[in-house]
Amino acid sequence: PAPAPAVSYDVTFKGIPAMVGDQVFIPEGYTMDVLFAAGDPVVAGAAAYTGTLLDSAGYEKVSGGNHDGMHFYPLAGVDPNKGGLLAINHEAPDVQILFPAGFTYNAGTATAEQKKIALSAVGVSVIEVELASGKWAVKANSPYNKRYSGNTVYNVGGPAAGVVGPTVVGTLNNCASGRTPWGTYLTCEETTDNYLDPTQPANGYGWVVEIDPQGSFAATKRTALGRFDHENTDYMVDADNSLAIYMGDDSTPGCVYKFVPSGKYNPADRAANQNLLDAGTLYAAKFNADGTGQWIELTQGKNGLVVGAQDPGNFTQSAVPPAPVTVDFATQADVLLNTKSAARVAGATLMDRPEWVSVGPDRKIYFTFTNNGGRQVTDAANPRVTNSHGHIIRWTEDGDTAKATSFKWEMFLLAGDPRLTAANLKGNINGDTFSSPDGLGVDPKGRLWVQTDASTSATTTNTFGNNAMYYVDQATKESTRFLVGPNGCEITGLTYTPDLTTFFINIQHPTGTWPSNVQGNALPPRSATIVVRRTDGKPVGA
Ligand code: FEO
Ligand code: CA
Ligand code: CA
Ligand code: CA
Repeated sequence: PAPAPAVSYDVTFKGIPAMVGDQVFIPEGYTMDVLFAAGDPVVAGAAAYTGTLLDSAGYEKVSGGNHDGMHFYPLAGVDPNKGGLLAINHEAPDVQILFPAGFTYNAGTATAEQKKIALSAVGVSVIEVELASGKWAVKANSPYNKRYSGNTVYNVGGPAAGVVGPTVVGTLNNCASGRTPWGTYLTCEETTDNYLDPTQPANGYGWVVEIDPQGSFAATKRTALGRFDHENTDYMVDADNSLAIYMGDDSTPGCVYKFVPSGKYNPADRAANQNLLDAGTLYAAKFNADGTGQWIELTQGKNGLVVGAQDPGNFTQSAVPPAPVTVDFATQADVLLNTKSAARVAGATLMDRPEWVSVGPDRKIYFTFTNNGGRQVTDAANPRVTNSHGHIIRWTEDGDTAKATSFKWEMFLLAGDPRLTAANLKGNINGDTFSSPDGLGVDPKGRLWVQTDASTSATTTNTFGNNAMYYVDQATKESTRFLVGPNGCEITGLTYTPDLTTFFINIQHPTGTWPSNVQGNALPPRSATIVVRRTDGKPVGA
C-alpha cells in the first residue's frame, strides 16, 4: 500500500514559553504529580531511601537513578487506563543518594560494596501502578515489582552468545528502550564496557536486553541486534507478521540500524516469540543525497565484511581523514561484537549522534540526531559542520514493509535558533525553537512529541530555557512547547495509557531542589517519573 500522507492534528493545549526554574512547567488546565523517584521502594518489603544511606542489599530493592526510556503495559483483568506495569530504564546512578556528600565514585579504587551500590542504581525497574482516587501511585508489594540491575545475571542469546555467554553479570547505561509486539521490554545499553566495574568481561555490554515485565521469560541479551552504544528501539510489523526493529548508535558519529528476524511474529502464541530476536539479518542505513536510502546487510562475507577489511574510521570528524584500520570479520560473531566498525566498512552513513527512533501508525519513521559539534565533513543527511543543535529525519520504507532494503528520506527539521545567522546554528523550526532533540515518540493517535537534552549552560538556557517537551505537527512542522523541566534536567522517556489521558514522562538528573520542593522533604535532587494529566480528565493534547 502507498504510505498515508502526513496529517495535521487539532492539538488544543496552549503552549508555554521557554522557562528556567526549579519546577515542572505545564500548560493551563494540566496537572503534574511525582510518581516514582530514585530511592523509592520497588521490591516487596523494600525500605525507601529517606535521607539515610542504605547498604547494597537495600539499594538493590529500590528505584535506580537517571530515569530514561520506559513503557506502559496493560495487565490482564485490569482496566488499562487505570492500572498496569511500567518498565523504566535507569541510565546512571543518582550518586547523591548513594554515597556521602562530596563522594566521587572511582571504579578503579571503589570497594566491592561501593561497586555493588553503584551497579544497583542502573538497569530497569518494573513497577505496578494504579489510578486510585484520581492519583496514580505505585502499588506497593505487587508481585510484579522487580529490579533488574547491574548486579543481576542475564542470559545471552544469538550468534555471539558463544563468545559472550552463556551469562553476563549486569546491564548498565540503560538509556532508552523499546518494546516488542509480544509485550516484552527492550532495554538498551548505551555503553560497550562496564565503566562502574571494569573487572567484568568487556564483551558483555553494548547490547539490547529483552526483559519480560510479566516475568515469564528470563532476561536475555540479544546479540543478533549488534553491539554499540544503543539508544532505543521501535518496531514495524507487516500484515504477514514480518518484523523490523529499528535502532541507533548514539556515537559521535554513529549509524542507524535495523534488524529483521528470520522468523515471523506469532500473535497467537506469546511463548513462540521468546527467541525470535536471536536469528535474523542486521542492516545499517546509507542515506543518499537524492533522498533515497539503502539498508546494507551486515552479514559476514558480504559488503566487505571479510578478514582484512579496511575500516575508514570516523572520517566525518576531521578535515584530514584518519588512516584506515584493518579489522578481521571471520565470523558473524566478529561482525556483531564490532558492529560500529562493520557498518563503516559496509558504507553506512555516519550520523550526528542517533538518539530516538519512533514508527508512527502511518508507518512513517522519525529519528532524532541530537548534535555533533565536532563534525567537519558533511553529507546530505548531516548537512551542518559543527552541528550544535541537531536535526530530525523522517523516512518511509519502500513498499511500506518491514522487509524493505531501501527507503525514501527527508530532512524533517533542523533544530537551532532562527534568530541566529550562522547556518550551523540557525535551524528552520517553525514555532517554538529547541536544541538537541533526543527523546521522541509518535503516540497511538499519530501525534509527534519531541524531548530535548541540550547542555544546561547559561548560554543554552538563555536561548531555549530549560530542557523541554514539544508537540510537532507532522504536516506543518510547527512546534509547540508542552512542558519544561526543572533546572539541570533533561526530559526523556514517554509512555501513556491507551486512552492517552495519562502521560508518564521522566525528569532525569535535576540539579536544584526538585522534587523535594514539591514533596516537602529535604532530600537531594532526584530523577523521577512524573504523571501529566488534564484537570478535566480528557486525553492529553486533545
Ligand atoms: Fe543516553 Fe544517547 O542518550
Ligand atoms: Ca541522559
Ligand atoms: Ca537520550
Ligand atoms: Ca542525549
